[in-house]
Amino acid sequence: MIIKVLGSAAGGGFPQVNCNCRNCTDVRAGRPGLRPRTQSSLAVSRDGERWLLLNASPDIRQQIAATPELAPRPGSGTRTSPIAAVALTNGDVDHVAGLLSLREGLFFTLYASQRVLEAVAANSIFNVLSNRSVTRVALPLDARIGLSGGLAIAAYPVPGKVALYLEDASDGFGTREGDSIGLEVSDPASGAAFHYIPGCAAVDADLAGRLRGARLVLFDGTLYTDEEMITQGLSDKTGRRMGHIAMSGIQGTTEGSMAAFAALGVERCIYVHMNNSNPVLREDSPERATVERAGWEIGWDGMEIRL
Ligand code: MLT
Ligand code: MN
Ligand code: ZN
Repeated sequence: MIIKVLGSAAGGGFPQVNCNCRNCTDVRAGRPGLRPRTQSSLAVSRDGERWLLLNASPDIRQQIAATPELAPRPGSGTRTSPIAAVALTNGDVDHVAGLLSLREGLFFTLYASQRVLEAVAANSIFNVLSNRSVTRVALPLDARIGLSGGLAIAAYPVPGKVALYLEDASDGFGTREGDSIGLEVSDPASGAAFHYIPGCAAVDADLAGRLRGARLVLFDGTLYTDEEMITQGLSDKTGRRMGHIAMSGIQGTTEGSMAAFAALGVERCIYVHMNNSNPVLREDSPERATVERAGWEIGWDGMEIRL
């Protein structure tokens, strides 16, 4: 199985168009030790010929252009694409907006939870993906389904939050099961499998049980501390309010993802979906050293993993 990180940044990307934070200023200036990042997405394939995208980011056109494996094969027809399927982990803009760039008659299967498929269907701009070319399949929760290219996916609910544009005034902003899912992608022929969870509010007992002993997990690396966007004057929201567990947790506690994973025995842990405020984006920062000491890698655009 080949896994490519197409985009390793959270919504907004890195640098973010309107952001003058220290990280964005320095990466814009080309300061060594920071690399630009596009928004959250992976590509996965068994054979290098047929590809499954995990999330469709607003930067998808740039990501496809940077990934020769995703270009039409010479002689394969006038309008073709190796992209056979797209699976969504939630309905957030950074994970669905790229679908609009796949509207030019691409034939693919769109997998998402029933909740997220309903959110997409309720927004008529996505009608540009015609039913003739795009087959929409609801991912059952807690069940594995086979894809035509030989891979299988299992979707499961994770603690999270409904998409920002769907938040309402009710308890939990109207979040329901299926709004945020994790995906286990596997190759039944080889037994290789990994988990992709770019948005997650907490590692509860259920999730810990699923991840224990996994070979590879690509996990929500949005924030280093729960309050960092407030501290840096960027937003009035904590990570908890946004549905993202922080790497180090809430200041002065150990309620973060590093601590939660410490006892899970996952072979390889990679953070993805980093927000531009996250100090780990600076290769020379103490926070970067801390996560690396805890055994984590920081994913980067173009990173390739073979399982
Ligand atoms: C998130 O990960 O919290 C979302 O991408 C936020 C957003 O939609 O901007
Ligand atoms: Mn996001
Ligand atoms: Zn910034």
